[in-house]
Amino acid sequence: MQKIIGLKVDLRDFSNALAFEFYNCVKDLISNKKLLELDNFTQHIKTSRLQHSINVAYYSFIVCKFFGLDYKSAARAGLLHDFYLYDWREQKQPEGYHAKAHPIIAKRNAQTITNLNKIEENCILRHMCPLTPIPPKYAESIILSIIDKYCASFEVIMNLFDKK
Ligand SMILES: [Fe+2]
Ligand SMILES: [Fe+2]
Repeated sequence: MQKIIGLKVDLRDFSNALAFEFYNCVKDLISNKKLLELDNFTQHIKTSRLQHSINVAYYSFIVCKFFGLDYKSAARAGLLHDFYLYDWREQKQPEGYHAKAHPIIAKRNAQTITNLNKIEENCILRHMCPLTPIPPKYAESIILSIIDKYCASFEVIMNLFDKK
């Protein structure tokens, strides 16, 4: 889970300045026991929900940093955007269909382990656009929503070609 899918970056390698900066943005979250439970759930074929969240967090961090945006909020929201601890295929939620329900549940769970700023909250709540009606409000949330789809597609393709 310390590797980013599609990159050679090892998040444990603190001689890598970007990996170190990313770690500093999320260190309280990445060691949180409740968040680490995401590793028990499959997101895309062989990719766990935790690995997917780390992928989205790191790519969002890099892109937002490149554009001079709030990369810390993007990194934190990336880790938290799919913070729901159930199998959506088996457990229906009272909040509605999966695309609508899980961002609301992720935001609620995130608020049990950290305070969210406006950008982080918007990133989490609106990441399923266009499957949910209200679009993202901030540049960071638009980027995160696009990167979520990119990572999901990449994870599926990588898994399909992984013979292990
Ligand atoms: Fe999601
Ligand atoms: Fe996601």
